[in-house]
Amino acid sequence: MKAVTWRGVDGVGVESVDDPRILNSHHLVLEVGLTVTCGSDLHLLGGYIPAMRSGDVLGHEFMGTVAEVGPGVTRHQVGDRVVVCSFISCGQCWYCRNQLWSLCDNGNPNPAITQGLWGFAPGGCYGYSHALGGWAGSHAEDVRVPHTDRGAFPIPDDVSDERALFASDAAPTGWTGAHQAEVRPEDVVAVWGAGGVGQMAARAAMIMGAERVVVIDRLDNRLEQVRTHIGAETLDHEEVDVAAELREMSGGRGPDVCIEAVGMEAHSPGPQYLYDQVKQQLRLQTDRPTAVREAIHACRKGGTAFTLGVFAGPVDKFPLGR
Ligand SMILES: NC(=O)c1ccc[n+]([C@@H]2O[C@H](COP(=O)([O-])OP(=O)(O)OC[C@H]3O[C@@H](n4cnc5c(N)ncnc54)[C@H](O)[C@@H]3O)[C@@H](O)[C@H]2O)c1
Ligand SMILES: [Zn+2]
Ligand SMILES: [Zn+2]
Repeated sequence: MKAVTWRGVDGVGVESVDDPRILNSHHLVLEVGLTVTCGSDLHLLGGYIPAMRSGDVLGHEFMGTVAEVGPGVTRHQVGDRVVVCSFISCGQCWYCRNQLWSLCDNGNPNPAITQGLWGFAPGGCYGYSHALGGWAGSHAEDVRVPHTDRGAFPIPDDVSDERALFASDAAPTGWTGAHQAEVRPEDVVAVWGAGGVGQMAARAAMIMGAERVVVIDRLDNRLEQVRTHIGAETLDHEEVDVAAELREMSGGRGPDVCIEAVGMEAHSPGPQYLYDQVKQQLRLQTDRPTAVREAIHACRKGGTAFTLGVFAGPVDKFPLGR
């Protein structure tokens, strides 16, 4: 079959790869319907996530139609339309039983790679390096889905493919940010990043009753999307002093909840961008954590700063005192 593969830093190609096969009774093979690019894929292209190999199939946000099922699959049949969670969880280990699905002990068959870096291994993720399990991604004609009864969800007939698709990653990720940051009615919530994840976090905060939701980015078309489709307010971080503006918008206190949805390749107009960029390119630090610093700095006293962005390792100038 044809698939989109990683070929090295900033290198992507289309090539023929082996068709996925059922190797275990709980696997299914999915004929991919829709598959999209997540901000996390940019970190792979930039070469900032370890353990990618040339030829790895990319993609982890997807839906499709069940083409083949293993004998142990009980909840799905050939022909079912399903959306698949980007993280792989077994449903049976300690982490899954405690609803910490993305930390599943059985989703990542290569735990040693990240144990060295982080102490413990996270779960597995499709198309996201051998450090997260080496699973083939969804930018392909077909993809193998393990632990199917837990990770694939039937799509109701009245929900379109396009709407169901984002239940794979951006929507639950954004929801997780607002939920775990414990957004409450009447809160002022600021979200850094107007990509899919930031937009969904903003929408989730609105659904949870936040009084004001403000999304920060520098890309006009994304800020416009936020205003028209999400219904939140926006700030351009290249035009205004974000912390001062947020203070003004929250009665002088600062936002109650600050959600960072930018990740390790943040931009900023100031000299710290150059500082972080030079250190990242020289591999003296793994991440450019500008938006995290800004979120912590802007948050009201006793407020909650929550990071959704993907980061790889140690960073510099982290405002621990704050
Ligand atoms: N925790 C998870 O499970 C999970 C899931 C999906 C994505 N992510 C991560 O969330 C982050 C966002 O994902 P996405 O798909 O929305 O990415 P994206 O690249 O589409 O969006 C990131 C946005 O941040 C903006 N940005 C850069 N610097 C900024 C700054 N200083 N202040 C404000 N905005 C800034 C960019 O202009 C861009 O629009 C990425 O790091 C991604 O890896 C995490
Ligand atoms: Zn993702
Ligand atoms: Zn598990």
